[in-house]
Amino acid sequence: MSAAPLVALRGVGKRFASGVRALEGLDLEVGAREFLGLLGPSGCGKSTALRLLAGLAEPTEGRVEWAEGARDAAPGEVGFVFQEPTLMPWASALANAMLPMRLAGVGRAEAKARAADALAAVGLAGFERAVPRELSGGMRMRVSIARALVTRPRILLMDEPFAALDEITRWKLNDDLLALWGAQRFTVVFVTHSVFESVYLAQRVVAMAARPGRAAGEVRLDEPAPREPGFRTSARYAAQCRAVSEMLAAATGEAIA
Ligand SMILES: Nc1ncnc2c1ncn2[C@@H]1O[C@H](COP(=O)(O)OP(=O)(O)O)[C@@H](O)[C@H]1O
Ligand SMILES: [Mg+2]
Repeated sequence: MSAAPLVALRGVGKRFASGVRALEGLDLEVGAREFLGLLGPSGCGKSTALRLLAGLAEPTEGRVEWAEGARDAAPGEVGFVFQEPTLMPWASALANAMLPMRLAGVGRAEAKARAADALAAVGLAGFERAVPRELSGGMRMRVSIARALVTRPRILLMDEPFAALDEITRWKLNDDLLALWGAQRFTVVFVTHSVFESVYLAQRVVAMAARPGRAAGEVRLDEPAPREPGFRTSARYAAQCRAVSEMLAAATGEAIA
């Protein structure tokens, strides 16, 4: 990382009341407008790290350091997307996407207009009135992304957002997310346990090791965004996946299966 980070975890530890030490000595810098992939085995503290970045939890050691001015603006500086879309089942796509604006005290007309824009940006123009059960899993995830982006956050935190989707839908969402990121230039921290997905999306992949969770290796991927057509089947993609797999294996001390 060359420029000053947008946000950094410095020597972060997190111990739960149960005695579980989820993180210890975690150092992680996230650059402004960077697309960072966070990779690691189940239980290594990825979700905990995201929750600390989101301010949903406090570290028990170390600190979360924001670039000057980055967190003191309006609420809605951080968008969060979970593995489940977590939509209100009785409410339309539009009402779901409006929620953060309404919570931030934005007036109904403006919230509606911005939510409609956010839905259009994720490819859901025309589906404003649909309720979640009328939408496919991929479309529900799109609503969840629209809801996270409706406040125009500086940073989007995504916790295995596409893990429950079928592969074709996942690929499409990968491409559409990259296009959105290219157009809007927010910062992304994308948690996944898929080497393939991290290589397809990220500019840099950090691997975390478990017990206790910490950053244990990284690979920088200088690929164009959006990715060039055919990247997913290219020899270059395969080589990058291999490099990241090897880094992950070294970082976690596991042999490559
Ligand atoms: N609220 C909590 N209370 C107690 N232990 C927790 C809590 N949240 C997570 N943990 C534990 O912390 C560790 C890291 O969890 P998590 O951050 O969810 O990992 P990951 O997202 O990488 O799978 C795990 O051992 C998990 O059981
Ligand atoms: Mg998790």
